Amino acid sequence: MTAPSPVVELRGVSKRFGGTQALDTVDLELHPAEVHAFVGENGAGKSTLGKIIAGLYAVDAGELLADGQPAGRWDPIHAQRAGIAMIAQELSLVPQLTVAQNVFLGIESSVGGVLRRDLRRRFLALSEQAGFDLDPDVPVGELRIAQQQKVEILRALARDARVIVMDEPTSSLTAHETAQLHDLIRGLREQGRTVVYVSHFLDAVLEVSDRITILRDGVKVRTAPVAQETKQTMVAGMLGRELSVTFPPRPASTPNETPPLLELDMVSTASGISDVSLIVKPGEIVGLLGLVGSGRSEIAHAIAGADRITAGSLRLEGREPADWSVRRAIDAGIVMVPESRHDQGLILQRSVRENISLAFLDRVSRFGVISRRRERSRAQELADALEMRPRRVELEIAGLSGGNQQKALLGKWLLGEPRLVILDEPTRGVDIGAKATIYHLIADLAARGVAVVLISSEHEEVLNLATRAYTVIDGTVRDEVDPSRLEVSDLLTQLFETDTKPGALA
Ligand SMILES: Nc1ncnc2c1ncn2[C@@H]1O[C@H](COP(=O)(O)OP(=O)(O)O)[C@@H](O)[C@H]1O
Ligand SMILES: [Mg+2]
Repeated sequence: MTAPSPVVELRGVSKRFGGTQALDTVDLELHPAEVHAFVGENGAGKSTLGKIIAGLYAVDAGELLADGQPAGRWDPIHAQRAGIAMIAQELSLVPQLTVAQNVFLGIESSVGGVLRRDLRRRFLALSEQAGFDLDPDVPVGELRIAQQQKVEILRALARDARVIVMDEPTSSLTAHETAQLHDLIRGLREQGRTVVYVSHFLDAVLEVSDRITILRDGVKVRTAPVAQETKQTMVAGMLGRELSVTFPPRPASTPNETPPLLELDMVSTASGISDVSLIVKPGEIVGLLGLVGSGRSEIAHAIAGADRITAGSLRLEGREPADWSVRRAIDAGIVMVPESRHDQGLILQRSVRENISLAFLDRVSRFGVISRRRERSRAQELADALEMRPRRVELEIAGLSGGNQQKALLGKWLLGEPRLVILDEPTRGVDIGAKATIYHLIADLAARGVAVVLISSEHEEVLNLATRAYTVIDGTVRDEVDPSRLEVSDLLTQLFETDTKPGALA
């Protein structure tokens, strides 16, 4: 079977605007009866490519073929004759004219004031085909953008366009209108038409397209069938690098009336933090946002009982425990997964099972004797939950990848069913796959009601996972911030602008 001959083909097309190479030797084929998406970052050249197809821009180099024939002169008139229409980002309607007048503008002579009967009939037929409910007699200037876009679509249909380029058609549509548009697009494809669909909404692209062309800086990265792409592969192609992993949905914030599990009230320690106040509630992921050396880890140490509190108070469920220590913290269900798995967390020459069991021997032992079978089964459960690869708990830790070592380290603490987990740089040095697992694990912990204190130098992680966060500057908590409303750049501005004393805690 031979491939269908393309309705439009571009060969080595380049386009420059002043100093900008908007398109660089792009090859492209548009097939009949396909929805063909263009994706790429802003400025990648999507609109330019669409406009070249529609004859709105002339090419600097390369050629364009329509139905297998060199197109020769190519301008909007010739493109329209070849059955190509574009619904541009900047709509091109005449606001003073009515909906129907705009739809038939240029293809029906002297529309005049009153819509001719046959045109009205054609208008209604087109509207029905598209599933639109537009009043033909309203001036277009009075319509919302989404409605105006429908007028543009009708206009393309009125010209019986075989190729319709839609440049970001959904950017001003509601979810319902977008779904309607997608139905319409599928209908157009069924009629054998080609739809070029430019969109930033990658889920929509995956839903509606047959093939996807990825552009980056004016260069075509690839054209591939939709089945070969995912959001990740598209983003990787658009950015030219691997996507920093996707984050799980942020847990719901804890109700105001929920009492804190842990409170620090003007806490100071010998390690240099002073007057630190914060609260942590069950089910919260509380981020500590600060630069390296700001005191984030030292606050964690105070919570975990590792550093002695010299002033202020720590309260657990409203009560101040006497002699706060690591032992007491662990007894209270507070554990800290330290930053460095090599020197603090794991015994590299022991197995995954042994490492996981180590911290909570009492949970796997009965009558003081370690039940090997119980230990094995609990360790295996955790290894499974953590998606450790390979899932063989008898392997030596030393032989695992960094990401899997980190998972074993987490497993070791999670076996104890903690109430509060402090994670200091939980993803440092682990690969993307392991990062994603760890993110989900953190979200799962919170969903189970465990409180999490999260420290990460990849601020993006805290901003995407935390339900609340504190900025930590110069050894103290400066502000409470809403991580969902903060960009990394704003955060860094806050952290850097404040007059820090470098190395105050070094
Ligand atoms: N009419 C124009 N004049 C000057 N530069 C333009 C023009 N159209 C596009 N460009 C430039 O060409 C590049 C590609 O733009 P465009 O095709 O609009 O990208 P996209 O639609 O992918 O966001 C950008 O750098 C843009 O600034
Ligand atoms: Mg554009």
